[in-house]
Amino acid sequence: MTHPVTYEREGRIGLIRIENGPVNALGHAVRAGITAAIDAFAADAEAGIAVVYGVGRLFIGGADISEFGKPPQDPWLPEVVNHIEACPKPVIAAIHGAALGGGLEVALGCHYRLAMQGTKLGLPEVTLGILPGAGGTQRTPRLTGLATAMEMISSGVPVTPDDALSSGLIDRIGTGDLLADAKGYATELLDQNAPVRPVSAMPRPAPDAGASAAIRATLAKRAKGLVSPLAAVEAVEASCSTDLTEGLAFERARFNEVLDTPQREGLIHAFFIERKVARLPEIDGVAPRSFARIGVIGGGTMGAGIATAALLRGLAVTLIERDAAAADKARATIDGNLAAAVKRGKLSEDKRAAILSDALITATDYAALSDADLVIEAVFENMDVKKQVFAELDRVCKPGAVLATNTSYLDINEIAASISRPADVIGLHFFSPAHVMKLLEVVVADKTASDVTATAFALAKTLGKVAVRAGVCDGFIGNRILSHYRAAADRMVLAGASPFEIDDALTDFGFAMGPYAVADLAGLDIGYMTRQRKATTRDPQEVVPTWADELYHLGRLGQKTGRGYYIYEGRQGTPDPEVEDLITKARMEAGIAPRAFTKDEIVRRYMAAMVNESARVVEEGIAQRPLDVDVTLLSGYGFPRYRGGPLKWADMQGLRALLADIESYAQDDPFFWKPAPLLTRLAAEEQTFDSLNAG
Ligand code: 3HC
Ligand code: NAI
Repeated sequence: MTHPVTYEREGRIGLIRIENGPVNALGHAVRAGITAAIDAFAADAEAGIAVVYGVGRLFIGGADISEFGKPPQDPWLPEVVNHIEACPKPVIAAIHGAALGGGLEVALGCHYRLAMQGTKLGLPEVTLGILPGAGGTQRTPRLTGLATAMEMISSGVPVTPDDALSSGLIDRIGTGDLLADAKGYATELLDQNAPVRPVSAMPRPAPDAGASAAIRATLAKRAKGLVSPLAAVEAVEASCSTDLTEGLAFERARFNEVLDTPQREGLIHAFFIERKVARLPEIDGVAPRSFARIGVIGGGTMGAGIATAALLRGLAVTLIERDAAAADKARATIDGNLAAAVKRGKLSEDKRAAILSDALITATDYAALSDADLVIEAVFENMDVKKQVFAELDRVCKPGAVLATNTSYLDINEIAASISRPADVIGLHFFSPAHVMKLLEVVVADKTASDVTATAFALAKTLGKVAVRAGVCDGFIGNRILSHYRAAADRMVLAGASPFEIDDALTDFGFAMGPYAVADLAGLDIGYMTRQRKATTRDPQEVVPTWADELYHLGRLGQKTGRGYYIYEGRQGTPDPEVEDLITKARMEAGIAPRAFTKDEIVRRYMAAMVNESARVVEEGIAQRPLDVDVTLLSGYGFPRYRGGPLKWADMQGLRALLADIESYAQDDPFFWKPAPLLTRLAAEEQTFDSLNAG
């Protein structure tokens, strides 16, 4: 294997070339290679200046994340960066694509920085639960001032070359060819006899009490529950009062602290599983079908959102509604969504006009779908209606068109079996609002062809969604697990907890919202309809939240009617005391004397129910791997990212302890608390869910 870092010279310019896999991550060989290349340049009497550059998509994507948690190997990245900075002859960083984390820190160790237009420059460590650990917190503020550095490092959001140039982070923007521009810059600096210019020798940034207070106020909201953003801010602030050596020692101490947290483990798990989730043997090497023209049936909540998502990503859409008025209404909803995108700067006004006149067709006749490559049905959640729609699609669609349903719960095998081409049928379960929510469950039915599955994953990528493969069952992965943990919450309510205590405990745990606030957001009619659908098949031992049925009958459907579990002024809800009365009535009817629940017990029971059902979903093959469950809950259900997903959380708790909880709850309530066999087996073998993610 050739070495990932090479040194060569052209005229008086030394070229240090980094080539290491997809993102030029700073693994051990690269760190050692950069050190050696700097030594070679320093010793090369013919060379007056050096250019460090990366080969491939980008400069350097950062430290090698897969090395975290393993024993460190010399040289450490901070030493490498110091070594570059200490070079007696000037070194230029020539940056294209991205310089992230340790990548930007390497550039900050260089004496001059050139970034190509379109490059992302950032210190995203906090998104992984850590902070810059190779001088980023000390050198950035010396270049940009304290406020800019604190914002950049505590948010993790990359900046553009224009912003970086005006803040002093870089010296020049390149617009042509990377190496040609870098050599041109090097020649200029040689001609000027430009000196080395170590950032560490620059003056310390001035303290800024106002900026320090403002960033803390921002973090209290933006980084609620997270440890590393504040630690990063404190490290940046240290640069005001320390020289570089002391500052680096402070940064290192904070870095080691956060490296050792479950948050770091959870966030890095999330990073890797999001990249692994689309890697499925069944579609490996399978070419997707075309999906340039999308058909959408139904222009209600979901159909209009799905159409918007496709249009925003450059796809053509034909939307079918029941009559002209409904079609016009759908067009108006889509127009509103596009207008909002224009307002947020995501779309130009010209593009919006072009989409509405050229890319979107609304119609009432299914014949308009004859040239559609892929059709997504989003009509009412009713099997007979869905079958009628699929019969029409079978009649009008061209051979090979992918026929997808957005059903939330219905049996996709039954839908597929009702037409002549079941291999073309698949579930594409979007989440509301479909043009905003990241998750897309790809529900593969018994007869779905593998190139149809490949097409679904390719479509998700085009739409910027995180696709998770699911199998057919009531609720697929996400809604099935949700209905179980929601049932655990309802059992706690009947036993004495209030819905507001439950929501409170779970938002403290890190969920974006608790289950009852979520129910209000989705609309209490949705839960009611689901209970009606299951009324005849339900086990009599299941707890039916009669209070929720009463809210439905009172027309209190949640946010959309201004009242549900909460009373709303805009989106802000306050607990409705009348809900407590309805619950008290339900307890009296069931002969239950209410007891108190601590926040800890609420969380443990809720999470135990979530993990137990997740284990069943994996064991039954509805989710092929534990990571599919974790990604589903992280991307679509507001699960706190820093906990990595329910099954990563379970691994970190220890499966034995979790099983012991379930067994103790089962003593009073054996119907609901049956340990999942997979959980029992993994606990007995002292294994983790993560051990099933390998491969
Ligand atoms: N270390 C190890 N592997 C990495 C990596 C890293 N820093 N960054 C990306 N990879 C891997 C991915 O896991 C993926 O592997 P796979 O093909 O086996 O799944 C592969 O590289 C390609 O990654 P993406 O699919 O994400 O490629 P994209 O082109 O879409 O994105 C990227 C490239 C913007 C660089 C994106 O990968 C990214 O955001 N990476 C992480 C950047 C980051 O957080 N850097 C900071 C690291 S921490 C650090 O530097 C600490 C220091 O301060 C001491
Ligand atoms: P909705 O009631 O808002 O919209 C349904 C639309 O379909 C209506 O505009 C209706 O006029 C139209 N329609 C009905 N029959 C039709 C037909 N034969 N031809 C053409 N148009 C027809 O319903 P919503 O919420 O958009 O749900 C649609 C589907 O998406 C359902 O299967 C639902 O389970 C699913 N879903 C809903 C989610 C949600 O949060 N609302 C989330 C994920 C999936």
